[in-house]
Parts: sequence; C-alpha cells; structure tokens
Amino acid sequence: MAYENIIVSTEAEKVGIITLNRPKQLNALNEELMVELGQALRAFDADEKIGCIIITGSEKAFAAGADIAAMAEYTFNEVYKNEYITRSWETIRSIRKPVIAAVSGFALGGGCELAMMCDFIIAADNAKFGQPEIKLGVIPGAGGTQRLPRAVGKAKAMDLVLTGRFIDAAEAERVGLVSRVVPLDKLKDEVLAAALTIAGYSQITVIAAKESVNQSFETSLAEGVHFERRIFHALFATEDQKEGMKAFLEKRAPEFKNR
Ligand code: CAA
Repeated sequence: MAYENIIVSTEAEKVGIITLNRPKQLNALNEELMVELGQALRAFDADEKIGCIIITGSEKAFAAGADIAAMAEYTFNEVYKNEYITRSWETIRSIRKPVIAAVSGFALGGGCELAMMCDFIIAADNAKFGQPEIKLGVIPGAGGTQRLPRAVGKAKAMDLVLTGRFIDAAEAERVGLVSRVVPLDKLKDEVLAAALTIAGYSQITVIAAKESVNQSFETSLAEGVHFERRIFHALFATEDQKEGMKAFLEKRAPEFKNR
C-alpha cells in the first residue's frame, strides 16, 4: 500500500517497522497520518511472518503532538460529533502483537501518548517527553491523563500535565516511563535486537504474555492473577510449550511453529 505520511519496512521478514514521516512538522500527528498508521499496524498484525512491530520517528522528533495547525479552528460540535483527533488513535490498542516505540527527539502531547500506547518505549539519550497541552488551552486527549499516572505515578504525572514541562530521557527512565535509554546512534540496533528477540519466540505465547500484562491495568489483583492462571494453563495445549521445554531439556534452541 502507498502511504504519504509514514514509511513502512520490514527487517528479516520478522519485524514490521513504521516510521512516522512528516519531518517539516516534526511528525505532528494529523488525521491522515493516524489513519495510515492504523492501516499499517493492522497489516503487520495480520501478517503471519511478522512477530513484532516498531513505531519510530526521526532523530529530532518521534512526534511533536497532534497537529496544532489542523485542529486550531475546530469547534466543540465538530470534535465531539466526529470524534476528531482521537477517533483513529484507538486502533493501536487492538493490535495483538507487541509494538515497541523507538523514541528519539521530541515525544510531546499526542506523541508522548502514542509512545505510551505502545507496549514499551526504548528511548535515545536525546529524547524529550512531555504533555504540554495545557499551554494550548486544552488537556491531553489521547490517554495522557490516564496512562501517564499509571506509568509514573500521580506526583510526576500531575507535575508534567499541569506545568507542561519536558523531561529528558534520563528522568523518563528513572520514573519508569521508558524501559531503557541508549545512545542515539545505537537506538535502531537496540530496538531491532529487542524486536527480533521477541519475534523469535512463539507468537501465541508472546500474544498471551502481552494480553496478560495489559489485563493488570483493567482488573483487581485477584481477578488479574486468575486471568493469568487461565492463560498459563491454556498454553500447555500448544505445541510450542512442548517444544520450548523439550528444547531446554535437550540443551538446544527451540523451533517454535506458532502452534
Ligand atoms: N503541530 C503542528 N505543527 C507543529 C507541531 C505540532 N504539534 N510541533 C511542531 N510543529 C511545526 C512548527 O509549527 C514548525 O513549523 P514551521 O517551520 O512551518 O514554522 C516546525 O514544526 C518546526 O517546529 P519549531 O520551529 O517550533 O521547532 P523547535 O525546535 O523550535 O521546537 C518543539 C520544537 C519544542 C517541539 C515545538 O515545535 C513545540 O513546542 N511544538 C508543539 C508541541 C505541543 O504543544 N504538542 C502538543 C500538541 S496538542 C496534542 O497533542 C493534543 C493531544 O493530546 C491529542
């Protein structure tokens, strides 16, 4: 499919890479880009060969937020009735395979929210995160006020959402927003290595692991543990569980068949 606002590629036929590509606007997220992102994510999710997906931007910007020029003149009637800005953002939540955000440069507003919708974030040391919507007379509109406190706790989330200040990669790692920080020139290699590792496991197990971790944000501890146990037990019905454990005992690498 021909895209105008993203670049789509693959690595080793196992990893799908989506590069946000509106460099002049620092990858500001307009409707067209978000629709294309959703299409590309769904295509990779449906591709049997792909085991992990990466979303990334440019060195200067992962994404500097929703497109301010596009939304400046919107009225309440328009945005509410048509769910402008946010409607197409929910696709990413329905993706079953892991999605890694590889962030260098600015991840602000909707850019930070998009990164948080991914399963985890690996950041370059030049990354800057923030929810500066308050400066524009709005609040985060793509999950920022909900996902940020879950990721970093109330104090830091309130600080960022109410002051609009940016945090650097080191602070983002310290507070748990990102899983690792790497030098800018190593970002691509590190993220690809992580994605290829994940893509080397059984897709069924990977999807189960993602689903179970995500469940922890939706339920009580007792219900979550119950959910996990059901999935854990169910995996004993797969050939890949047999292969994984047999390979360990035979001291060889497993050959998962996604069955
Ligand atoms: N939307 C539209 N255009 C944007 C943009 C955005 N979010 N962010 C940057 N741009 C454009 C700028 O207008 C500029 O365009 P021109 O060259 O045509 O003037 C170009 O990108 C380069 O930006 P700057 O000249 O400002 O670059 P800088 O290096 O001086 O500053 C920055 C970089 C700090 C990221 C600054 O651009 C900035 O503050 N951007 C806006 C960040 C923001 O407020 N994001 C939140 C948006 S609201 C939102 O996301 C709502 C939501 O929750 C869904």
